[in-house]
Amino acid sequence: MHPDTEVDVAGLVLRSPLMVASGVLGSSPSLIRIIATNPDVGAVVTKTVTYRPRTGYENPTLVDLGYGFLNAMGLPNPGYSEYRFELGSIKKSLEIPLIVSIGPSDEGEAEEMVEELDSVADGFEVNLSCPHVENLGMEVGSDASKASGIVKAVRGSTGKPVLVKISPNVTDFVANARSAVEAGADAITAINTVRGMAIDVNAMRPVLSNVYGGLSGKAIHPVAVRIVFELYEKIKAPIVGCGGVYDWRDAVELILAGATAVQIGSAIAHSQTGLKVFNEIGEGVRRYLALKGFSSVKQIIGLAHS
Ligand code: FUM
Repeated sequence: MHPDTEVDVAGLVLRSPLMVASGVLGSSPSLIRIIATNPDVGAVVTKTVTYRPRTGYENPTLVDLGYGFLNAMGLPNPGYSEYRFELGSIKKSLEIPLIVSIGPSDEGEAEEMVEELDSVADGFEVNLSCPHVENLGMEVGSDASKASGIVKAVRGSTGKPVLVKISPNVTDFVANARSAVEAGADAITAINTVRGMAIDVNAMRPVLSNVYGGLSGKAIHPVAVRIVFELYEKIKAPIVGCGGVYDWRDAVELILAGATAVQIGSAIAHSQTGLKVFNEIGEGVRRYLALKGFSSVKQIIGLAHS
């Protein structure tokens, strides 16, 4: 038996429930083109683009802690206009949905960005959750009326699916997700990184140039599972799970908790086999489904609740 792995995230049909998470590999169009040929990749989410170009923070911007990465890149990107041009050069050759991650700071920026990027995007992921950049990400996402205004502006500027990526660093993530859905989001991506820091004990200084960063990888997986599980019971929108997916068990866990699809990020960098991690996880998910007697991955979405 070959279980069906196709899923539908708010109208985006994915051949595999495995997506490339924002910030990992999705910044270079030529890399996106290579990733998209992997049959176990269902969609790619780009690196977050902002209204204006950003150089990002000075090094060090990334620490490998073994159990995860701590990063504070500072949202480096060429700005939405240049990025639209770059994505335009590969869009037609992609066989899978391209989800453009955007980090607007207000409604006006959101409207302009989405109107221009609409021709190269199959959907948008609104980053309201980067935990360490002033006037962007979580700072915007924690301001309920600002966040809602941005999501409304995105909704009003595109007919394509809109995902909103939420932060685990707030007490009431359910309220944030609900308000995003009320403002027009079609799906919620949960979660972005967990705000953290590391100190170099020899230098006796914070490791990251920005001092604070976001923790991703294995260490945050149980947090992601818990948040997806709670959201599944409390919001009426598909959920894309993200956080510490390193093997098929992690992916299945998030799907059983309620995720329709899952994103993979840190595992790509930690894996000995690079992009083959998608094939290893994909194969593992198919074997699991077959062993349990399911004909489609859709049948196990949220099953841990019943
Ligand atoms: O620093 C960064 O570019 C991180 C972005 C994010 O976590 O959303």
